[in-house]
Formats: sequence, structure tokens, C-alpha cells
Amino acid sequence: MEKKQLDWSNLGFGYIQTDVRFVSNYKDGAWDDGAIVTDANIVLNECAGVFQYAQTIFEGLKAYTTEDGHIVCFRPDLNASRMADSARRLEMPAFPEDRFVDAVVQVVRENAAYVPPFGSGATLYIRPYMMGTNPVIGVKPADEYMFRIFVTPVGPYFKGGAKPLTIKVSDFDRAAPNGTGHIKAGLNYAMSLHAIVTAHEEGYAENMYLDPRTRTKVEETGGANFIFITKDNRLVTPKSNSILPSITRRSLVYVAKHYLDMEVEEREVLLEEVKDFAECGLCGTAAVISPVGKIVDHGSEICLPSGMDEMGPVTKKLYDTLTGIQMGRMEAPEGWIKTIL
Ligand code: PLP
Ligand code: COI
Repeated sequence: MEKKQLDWSNLGFGYIQTDVRFVSNYKDGAWDDGAIVTDANIVLNECAGVFQYAQTIFEGLKAYTTEDGHIVCFRPDLNASRMADSARRLEMPAFPEDRFVDAVVQVVRENAAYVPPFGSGATLYIRPYMMGTNPVIGVKPADEYMFRIFVTPVGPYFKGGAKPLTIKVSDFDRAAPNGTGHIKAGLNYAMSLHAIVTAHEEGYAENMYLDPRTRTKVEETGGANFIFITKDNRLVTPKSNSILPSITRRSLVYVAKHYLDMEVEEREVLLEEVKDFAECGLCGTAAVISPVGKIVDHGSEICLPSGMDEMGPVTKKLYDTLTGIQMGRMEAPEGWIKTIL
């Protein structure tokens, strides 16, 4: 298999159309067999549920080329089960979890020429998604759905790679109490667009959202969960039922405990205590671990002692261990790595 001629080391986080994608349709109460197709465009009725009432959910995971030349992906079973949770919350039929993993494997295999080479710093981002496709005009769930997966080679999510970010405490909420913040629904991201455009205009890389009920606790950013490191090397990460249960964060909790022998606290984190932490990072599939150097809260600055030049030392250890596992440089816990080729 010959790789495509792409400037792998200089890719941003953008969409590059690849050769093929997976599609399966749900009708009369059942999913069809699904197929690999070449057409990247979708034609739908003007009244499709996705257009009128935003009935759409998605997932995000990555495939990597390992040091010894295999193509693998990271914990796709957890994306399958999170997508099933998202589907249930939006009254959509879940795509069977085993078929989800098989479809990921198929799409990546068929697009192997687009999987960035080992050491390039790029990866193949995999985007499964599902939408209501038949006409609905009364507010109700659709009866027919389409599940698709496309892939696109990507570089770092934040420009500047591993340089610490400056973020702001947002005045907007990303999720409601008892809302949909814990699932990966397109509507949550639509909610965040004005907030992220505003933050970018003001020179910030991201927003720190607070809990929508009391606005005193740290939730997450628009596309990643938070991790904090205490001055005595504990990992602290916010627990909330209105944040997305990040697979990266759950993996880091395991890595911290079992590879780095760290103490971990998954608990509510008050905005007030953030000034006492030694390091802060954003974690997610796209973000991997992106260090935060400064958090601006309405004119008052919280400057993390790890500074603005590089990732803090404990964050770096977590980063090296996680990416070491993902890229096959370190032994992975049982079931974390799915070999594709
Ligand atoms: N939080 C939000 C809002 C996200 O969009 C993402 C990205 O998927 C994450 C957190 C990180 O989740 P994961 O580590 O599963 O990619
Ligand atoms: C991901 O990390 O997979 C996401 O979906 C986050 C998004 C901001 C790109």
C-alpha cells in the first residue's frame, strides 16, 4: 500500500476528503448491512430530523501507525458504547456496538493510505456520526436514521502543538443541569460556537465552562476535559454529570494510578482552588493533552507555576505514557489497542 503524498508533519486539524467511508441506514426498525461507499456527499429531504430538530450525534477517535508499522486504534469499544448512550438520550436507535467497531476497522483499513506515518506527529481522525433522515415536522424523533464513518488525517488540534494555552472562564454555559452535556450531541457544540468565536476574538484558545447550576465548579472546555496536577503530584479531574465522559481522561486516570503510581482524585473542582494547582491540561482525542499556562477569570489571571514555555513535568509524563501506549512504544493494558493492519 502506497501512502498518499501529504505534508504529514504540517497538517492542521482540518478535513481532508479520503477515498471511502462507511454508511448504514436504519428503516422499519432495523439497520441494514452497511457498505463502504465513495460518495462523500449526503442527499436528504429538506424536512429530515437532523435539519429541523438537530437530531444528530457523533464520536471521535484516532488511528495510529505504530513504531513497528502496524495500524491500530485506541479503545474503539468505549466510543461504541458512548455513542449508544448518546443515541438513547436523543431517542435514536443505537448502532450495534460490535458492528461499530467492525465498521471503524473497515473504514480505516480501506483508507490505510491516509494513515499518517509513525513519527510524523499526525494521526488519522475517525468520525462516526448518526442522524435522523426522514421528514419530521412535529417535534418528535425521526423513524429513519443514517450512521456513517469518515476519516481524515489530522495534525495538532491547537496551533503551536505543545505550547501552553491561555484560556478564559466563560460567561456562557455549554450544558444545562440535567441536560445533554454528558453525551456527544451536535447540539452541545452548536451551543458552544458563539462562546468559542468570542473567546478566539479576545485572544483565548478555549473556554473554561463552569457548572451551569452554581457557576462555582470547573466543568470542561468545548472539546476536552480538564486534568490538574497538585503541588504534591496528585492528579485531580472534575467529576460532573454535565461533562462528556472523556475516554482520554478515563485512560489517564488509569495510567496515573497503574503506570505512574500517582494518587488520583475524581471529584468536584472549585474554580476557587484552581490557583493552588501546579499544572493544568486539556485532554481529549483531538487535544491529546494540551497544557494550559494561564486561565483568565474576568480580568484576574491564574498563572500555573508550570509557566508558558512548556508542558509541566507531570503532564509530560502522562503525555509520554499515554502516547507511548497509543503508538505501541509501551505495553498497553489488556483490550486498549485494536490492531487494524
Ligand atoms: N469533552 C468534550 C466536550 C469533547 O468534545 C471531547 C472530545 O471528544 C472530550 C471532552 C474528550 O473526550 P475523548 O477523550 O473521549 O475524546
Ligand atoms: C474529539 O476530541 O474527538 C472531539 O470530538 C473534540 C472536537 C472538539 C474535535
